[in-house]
Amino acid sequence: MGLERAADGGQVIRIDVPVTVRAARVDEMRRLCELWGPKGMASRLRHLRRYFREQADGVQRGLVADFNGNPIGQLWVRLRHIDPAIEAGLPVVYVHTLVVMPEFRRLGVAEGLVRSASALAVERGCTHVSIGVDRPNEAARRLYAKWGFERYYESFDLRGDLVFMRREVFGCESREQLRREDPRSRIESGMDSGRLPEETFT
Ligand SMILES: CC(C)(COP(=O)(O)OP(=O)(O)OC[C@H]1O[C@@H](n2cnc3c(N)ncnc32)[C@H](O)[C@@H]1OP(=O)(O)O)[C@@H](O)C(=O)NCCC(=O)NCCS
Repeated sequence: MGLERAADGGQVIRIDVPVTVRAARVDEMRRLCELWGPKGMASRLRHLRRYFREQADGVQRGLVADFNGNPIGQLWVRLRHIDPAIEAGLPVVYVHTLVVMPEFRRLGVAEGLVRSASALAVERGCTHVSIGVDRPNEAARRLYAKWGFERYYESFDLRGDLVFMRREVFGCESREQLRREDPRSRIESGMDSGRLPEETFT
């Protein structure tokens, strides 16, 4: 912690607290839903309950960006039972349900989560990361394009109007980049080993 004088004469308190990527825990399901704000809570809880069941079965994994013991972002990574149209003949992990708490946006948290998913893909021998984006969410599509994702498939069905984008897993150097020295944020990954903490499977 450091105290500095701001240009306007006020005080600036500098803190250095890392954002850690860890496994999602079932006991924080409600807080994870709240990351989207108050609307649509019932439907989000229904989805997350299913995701946690699938996490227990090893079908998918939830990654949480943790700041000081609080979930401030999440991303889900489907590892198995992926729609063949989304796999499109490649060994992929499918990432979805990415959200970062508004107060923590534009600090690199989403990028840290996506790169952590990519590290999981590498551990599983997958070559690509795929993501589905709601067609109207142009800001998200631009963001993924900036990270090197390319559109390869589109669908319009019960899941919604979706554009699928994919890219090769991030290179080895990206795991180092996870531990950013960017003073705006410091993202550390607790997902280095393929194992999740036991409590995740309750
Ligand atoms: C999309 C989202 C996950 C990005 O999270 P984030 O942690 O802010 O993303 P990062 O900090 O890793 O990347 C920031 C980049 O995103 C883009 N971006 C984020 N917010 C933006 C905004 N309001 N306007 C324009 N670009 C924006 C920019 O390219 C930005 O890079 P820059 O800061 O260098 O300009 C977050 O905005 C969010 O939760 N949105 C609501 C849910 C959502 O749309 N999820 C995507 C579903 S597929």
